[in-house]
Amino acid sequence: MSVIRLGVNIDHVATIREARKTFEPDPVHAAVIADLAGADQITLHLREDRRHIQDRDLKLIREVVHSKINLEMAATDEMVEIALSVRPHQVTLVPEKREEVTTEGGLDVKGQKERIAEIVGRLKSAGIVVNLFIDPEKSQIEAAAEVGADAVELHTGEYANAKNEAEIEKELHRLKVAAKHARELGLKVYAGHGLTYKNVKPVAEIEEIEELNIGHSIVANAVLKGLSDAVKEMKRLINEAR
Ligand code: PXP
Repeated sequence: MSVIRLGVNIDHVATIREARKTFEPDPVHAAVIADLAGADQITLHLREDRRHIQDRDLKLIREVVHSKINLEMAATDEMVEIALSVRPHQVTLVPEKREEVTTEGGLDVKGQKERIAEIVGRLKSAGIVVNLFIDPEKSQIEAAAEVGADAVELHTGEYANAKNEAEIEKELHRLKVAAKHARELGLKVYAGHGLTYKNVKPVAEIEEIEELNIGHSIVANAVLKGLSDAVKEMKRLINEAR
């Protein structure tokens, strides 16, 4: 059995902080905890609008975390400059629309091959592994190989949103076919988006997949698991005051 890596996406910790524009919870602390708990990689998305992760978070996490850093970013000159200065181990190019709640679809590599090839080249020549977040479609996989990417991350959103057994099977089959095709073209194969404790196993079983990037479900679980202790501690403090 081959190993599979887990990239923990800590964006939502920053989302909670930004709800109050305060200092807590600090995603740098979250990254260290995830790192110490065995995460193979810390994944974070520096969005153009800086709605959650800030430039300072990225710089500090790059310094203090010992596992790999996977920077998700839009294919823009500003982001490429940041990546070349911070030097994460890996960059994942994602599409970005300002009004979206989260990354909604895969990157259209096929429709902007020249531009993506140029960015892939700049990042790779700095020694950064370049991953493209794409829908599990043959034409996008082929375009990813043509532009010289090291890896593709197959978008598992459609699988995660599937409503019944037949749909789930159909989406799983798409992922399996895509994973096989990408591997045959010499690409490393990753997957992510919408994966939860309930739906992750069939995806983790796909032999070609080397890495999963998961955020929402892990942070949601952490909030609920930690809530009981957090309430007890506050009760203890206020009772001590009397
Ligand atoms: N992979 C990519 C490329 C993403 O954009 C995201 C969301 O930021 C994830 C994985 C993690 O998705 P989720 O938070 O749904 O687990």
